[in-house]
Amino acid sequence: MRYKIALLPGDGIGKEVTYAAVQVMQAVAESFNITLEFKEQLIGGCSYDKHQSPLTDETIQACYDSDAVFLGAVGGPKWEKLPHHLKPEAALLKLRKSLGLYANIRPAKIYDALIDSSTLKKEVLDGTDFIVLRELTGGIYFGEPRGFDDKRGFNTMVYSREEVERIARMAFKFAGDRNKKVTSVDKANVLEVSQFWRNIVHEVHKDYPDILLTDMYVDNAAMQIVHNPKQFDVLLTSNLFGDILSDIAGMITGSLGMLPSASIGSKYALYEPVHGSAPDIAGKGKANPLAAISSAAMMFNYSFQMQKAAEIIEMAIERTLANGYRTADIFSEGCELVSTEKMTNQVIGNYTDIFNEQALGVFTL
Ligand code: IPM
Ligand code: MG
Repeated sequence: MRYKIALLPGDGIGKEVTYAAVQVMQAVAESFNITLEFKEQLIGGCSYDKHQSPLTDETIQACYDSDAVFLGAVGGPKWEKLPHHLKPEAALLKLRKSLGLYANIRPAKIYDALIDSSTLKKEVLDGTDFIVLRELTGGIYFGEPRGFDDKRGFNTMVYSREEVERIARMAFKFAGDRNKKVTSVDKANVLEVSQFWRNIVHEVHKDYPDILLTDMYVDNAAMQIVHNPKQFDVLLTSNLFGDILSDIAGMITGSLGMLPSASIGSKYALYEPVHGSAPDIAGKGKANPLAAISSAAMMFNYSFQMQKAAEIIEMAIERTLANGYRTADIFSEGCELVSTEKMTNQVIGNYTDIFNEQALGVFTL
């Protein structure tokens, strides 16, 4: 098998964590005997510096030509004062829209070894395992009209039937492979668009009678995530609500540096760590590569149907943490503080060991 991956490292630590993930991908390619072809392109601030645009047609074309897109992070103080449409963040939004990436998946899973580094209590966290499924190409992020002058500013939260139907369908399908529970988040007590969302989600639910559907107001959902996160399985949200709730959910893992994500549509898929470009530590070898590496695992799982590879990567991350290796963001007493490079090498070493252990297990049967 041969897969083409468009590589968009972006700005700041985006570069370091992307190259870390690529090394892990190469280890997977070797062990599973597949070929990965990388095409690297600029996105975000570095693209603006070179082309006066955060996202060029050339970069979009490389994504259209790929089997999967892998992105590091974009942004930084250097580009904060640019007009809205030239900001690095605008590139991300345009890319999501151009590739039709309507579904964003952010898992909130607790790694055993990190349970004590979360600000939440162990009893609250133990056994937490849910995904935030966020609608990504609609809602207030893209609604028209939008704008501001010196007297007022406005955005529009709008959803079409088709947009809600397809994300709801995906939520029920995911829940079918998990714990069969969907919690749909809205603000139907105040917003008409939310009442509409709720109605459509219930319509789609009729096709999935074995899934338990609960509605929850977004303010309550924010509270419940920190109060009792175990209750969730698939948390279905609109674009803005998912942006907020997935950051809250991120704290379950103790650090945003641990959170991977997948953005998928009917044709294309993009994988990226949830964290930003962290300009303050960029280039210093301090970045936590685990969210990027875990995003690579999602790529093997969702885009290449290599569930086994994804599973072994996750096990390798867990073993690395269990062995006490920590980057600064997740450091705790008694652990070994390591660089991006050392963390990555540990994961690769463990990946290879686990792959061989499993292969031996199979061959000695
Ligand atoms: C995210 C980010 C983006 C978003 C920004 C950078 C545009 O916060 O992916 O959650 O709001 O979607
Ligand atoms: Mg966000």
